[in-house]
Amino acid sequence: MPESDKVIELAKRRGIFWPSYEIYGGVAGLYDVGPVGTKIKNKIVALWRKIFVEQNSEFVVEIETPLITPSKVLEASGHVENFTDPIVECTKCHKIYRADHLVEDMLKVNVEGLRPSELTALISEKGLKCPACGGDFGEVRSFNLLFATNIGPYTGSTGYLRPETAQGMFTAFKRVYETSRQKLPLGIAQVGRVGRNEISPRQGLVRMREFTIMEVEFFIDPEDKEVPWLTRYLEDSFPVLFKEAKERGENPSVVKVKEMVEERLVVNPWMAFWMASASRFVQSIGINRDNFYFEEKLPHERAHYSSQTFDQIVQVMGEKVEISGHAYRGDYDLSRHSRYSNEDLTVFKKYDKPRTIKRKTIVIKRDRFKDNPDVQKEVMSIIANKSPEAIEKMLGTTEIGGKKLSEYIEVMEREEKEHGIKIYPHVVEPSFGVERCLYLSLLSAYREKKDRVVLALPKELAPYQVAVFPLLDKEEMRNKALEIYNLLKGSFEVLFDDSGSIGKRYARVDEIGVPYAITVDPQTFDDGTVTVRDRDTWNQVRVKIDDLMVMMNKLFSGQDFTMISGEAKK
Ligand code: ATP
Ligand code: GLY
Repeated sequence: MPESDKVIELAKRRGIFWPSYEIYGGVAGLYDVGPVGTKIKNKIVALWRKIFVEQNSEFVVEIETPLITPSKVLEASGHVENFTDPIVECTKCHKIYRADHLVEDMLKVNVEGLRPSELTALISEKGLKCPACGGDFGEVRSFNLLFATNIGPYTGSTGYLRPETAQGMFTAFKRVYETSRQKLPLGIAQVGRVGRNEISPRQGLVRMREFTIMEVEFFIDPEDKEVPWLTRYLEDSFPVLFKEAKERGENPSVVKVKEMVEERLVVNPWMAFWMASASRFVQSIGINRDNFYFEEKLPHERAHYSSQTFDQIVQVMGEKVEISGHAYRGDYDLSRHSRYSNEDLTVFKKYDKPRTIKRKTIVIKRDRFKDNPDVQKEVMSIIANKSPEAIEKMLGTTEIGGKKLSEYIEVMEREEKEHGIKIYPHVVEPSFGVERCLYLSLLSAYREKKDRVVLALPKELAPYQVAVFPLLDKEEMRNKALEIYNLLKGSFEVLFDDSGSIGKRYARVDEIGVPYAITVDPQTFDDGTVTVRDRDTWNQVRVKIDDLMVMMNKLFSGQDFTMISGEAKK
C-alpha cells in the first residue's frame, strides 16, 4: 500500500474528504469535502487570497464568472479543438487508458507532448500489452476533456463546463478594465469550480473530474519591464529546473528571484513575481522548500497558448504532483476573443508625451471625375482596402483609360500628433488546484508518533485553533468547560468535545490537526487553572483561566509553546 493511502484513510475517518455518492458506489474523480476538510480548504483559499490578491490590492481584483460556458467562448480559446488527452483502448477487454500515462508507467520515459500517431508507433514498437488482460492495443486517439451540455431547452445551443476559470476573466476583461483603474498592470483573480472529463482519475484528490481552481489572469504591457513591486521578492530563492538543464538531464537548482530577472531566465519579470508568490504560498500551507521545485516545460510540452510555462511540482510521501502552473499566455486569448466576438479588446496605451509621426494619406482629386462616374468607380475599386503606401507605389504604373493613377489620386505625407497606441495586453497566469493544495498539505503534515497519527498542519490551516474538554463526564466539569468554550469562541475557532475518554479525544484532535487542547480537571476547582496541551510535543502546562485569552493570543501571533509554557510555569 502506498504511504499516501494512509492519508486517504485518515481523510475518510475524520471527515476531511471521501468519494462522492458513496451510497451508490461512488463515481471516479468526484469527491466530497467533509466538515473538517471544508474548514482547511477555506483556509487554503484565504491564504492564497492574502498572497495573490490582498497583498496586491492596488492592481489585483477578484471576480466570479459562470461555470457554464457557451461553445463560442471555448472555440475562441482553442479548447474545443485542443483540450484533449490521448486515449488507447485494449482490443480484447476494451479497457481504456490514458495513453501517455500508460506508456510513461510501463516504459519509465517522458512522452509529454507526443502526438497520438507517435504514441501508437511507440506502443507497437515496444510491444506494450494491456496490463489488465494482456491484449493488444488499438490506435491512440485524442479525447476531448470538455463536459458538454445544452444551454436552455433547445438543441444547437451547446455549452460546456469551463475547464479553467481563465476564460471568464478574458471575456470580462474589458468591463473590469473600464470599471477599475484603467491602467496596466491589472490582475483579475477568480476561485471557482471547473470540470474536466479526465480519462483515468486517480484515487485521492490529484486527478478529479470536478475541482476548484484559484487563478490570476495578470494583464501587462509587454514592453514595460519595470516591476517595482518585485522588490519584496528579489532576495527570495527556490529550486527551479530550467529547460536547458532539463534537457541535459540535470536536477533543479536553487535560484534567486533577482538572478531570474537579471539573467532573463523568465520571458517577463512578472513570471518571477508570481512564481515567488507561489513559493511563499506553498510554504505557508506547510510544504517546505526542499519538497517542491519549478520545472520549465519544453516547447512541445506546453499548452497551445503558452510561450513559457513552469509547473510547480511537489514531492512528498512518495507522490510527485503538479500543484500549480505558471504560463506566459501572451496576447493569445485577448486577440482570439477579439476576433471571434468582433469586439475590440485592446487597451489604449498613452505615451508620456505625444509623439509626432508622419502619416501618409490619400487625397482624391474629385474634380477629375466630373462627368465621368465610370472612371471614378474604377479608381475607387482599385484603391479599396489598400494602404497609402501600397497605393503610392501604383501611382506611376497603374493606368485607367490611358491615364496614370496619379492623375486622379495623390498620396501626401502629414505630420500628426499621436497620443498613444492600442495594444493587446499580454497575460501571465499562475493557476492552482485547491484540492491538490489540500491533499499535498495533508501529506506534508502527516506524522506517526508512538502508533498514533498527528496532523502537524500549520496553525493557519488548522480546522480548529483550540479544543476544550472536560476531563471527566461530570456536570460541573462540563459546565466549566462550556464556560471556557464560550469565553474563547468570540476570538478563536473552538471545538468542544465531551464524548469518550480523554485519550480518545486527544487522539481525535491530533488527527485533524488542532494545535492546542484545554482540559478542565478536578484541580480547576481548587486553583482556577486548566491544562493546555500542545499537539506537536504533547507537553502540557497549567494556566489560570483568567490568563487563557492572553496565552492564546500569544500562541497565534507566532510565539512558541515551549517558550510560553516556561513563562506560565513561573
Ligand atoms: P496535469 O498535467 O496534472 O493534468 P494540467 O497541466 O492539466 O495538470 P493545469 O491545466 O495547469 O493542469 O491546471 C492548473 C492546476 O489545476 C494544476 O496545477 C493542478 O493544481 C490543478 N489540476 C489540474 N487538473 C486537475 C485535476 N484533474 N484534479 C485536481 N486538480 C487538477
Ligand atoms: N488556466 C490554466 C489551466 O487551468 O489550464
